Amino acid sequence: MSNHLLRLWDFNKEQLLSYIERALQLKKEAREGVRHQQLAGKVIGMIFEKPSTRTRVSFEAAMYRLGGQVIYMSGRDTQLARNEPLKDMGRVMARYVDGVVVRTFGQEVVEELGRYSDVPVINALTDLYHPCQILSDIMTVIEVKGEVEKLHIAWVGDGNNMANTWIEASSRFGFELTLACPEGYDPDAGILDAARKQAVKPISIVRDPVEAVAEADVVSCDVWASMGQEAEQDERLAIFQPYQVNEKLLGAAKPGITVLHCLPAHRGEEITDSVLEGPQCVAFDQAENKMHIHKAILEKHLLA
Ligand code: CP
Ligand code: NVA
Repeated sequence: MSNHLLRLWDFNKEQLLSYIERALQLKKEAREGVRHQQLAGKVIGMIFEKPSTRTRVSFEAAMYRLGGQVIYMSGRDTQLARNEPLKDMGRVMARYVDGVVVRTFGQEVVEELGRYSDVPVINALTDLYHPCQILSDIMTVIEVKGEVEKLHIAWVGDGNNMANTWIEASSRFGFELTLACPEGYDPDAGILDAARKQAVKPISIVRDPVEAVAEADVVSCDVWASMGQEAEQDERLAIFQPYQVNEKLLGAAKPGITVLHCLPAHRGEEITDSVLEGPQCVAFDQAENKMHIHKAILEKHLLA
């Protein structure tokens, strides 16, 4: 049986919550100065075909802080850049390392690596999903609000990899989700249909960001042009202008609404500087929690 983490859909609520519970424990222990060695002797390979600050450093730090070691390769440094088949790469990597963390474009790349790898493959972001990020985001929500299931979460902006992953998270964790996206920028239709079939609460798409946040406990946002969409940046800037998370939008929301941003942020585009730096925004806690979640993920998958 495979032991990969390719998308949240492959896990049930209890399994997803167990990453978060373990990460909360590891965060507490980190604060107390507890030192860990449970991954001593383990090595992971990290192949990143897109840039990263948080995901790369937090995975590397997580591995080292649990006693393990990391081999990092940018995609262009591997033979993938010269079209070595993924089925060969997957089998070869599994002969050297205990797990592979991959950031790439197509979801089919991590799926194909997973089919041929005897060691866990972990999705560190594809064009379709960002599962590890949403686990840290939900961990952060639980820290702030005490729970997630009874909440109403809003997404404002592009129907991108983050939005798709929030949709799968909604059907698994059981929270209500409303996404405000401009027409033509909806999340993946297949993911939405499948998630709605298993969801216990509504997953709604609206066009008006005010409607999305009006009843929400949490609002999450992200850049308007994701990695790989740089050529569309100017066009998107105009289309997404009404979807900025700013003071006015928060004024239309419940007073205690919490603001999430996975970072990196483009201040003045999808979020204003004052909201990002304001008391309702927990973006830097989300960033920290990535390391604790990655520790929990590495433990669970490498020691299984
Ligand atoms: N949030 C996130 O994935 O950031 P990086 O692109 O810096 O890894
Ligand atoms: N949607 C963004 C997320 C970055 C962490 C991207 O894919 O670039």
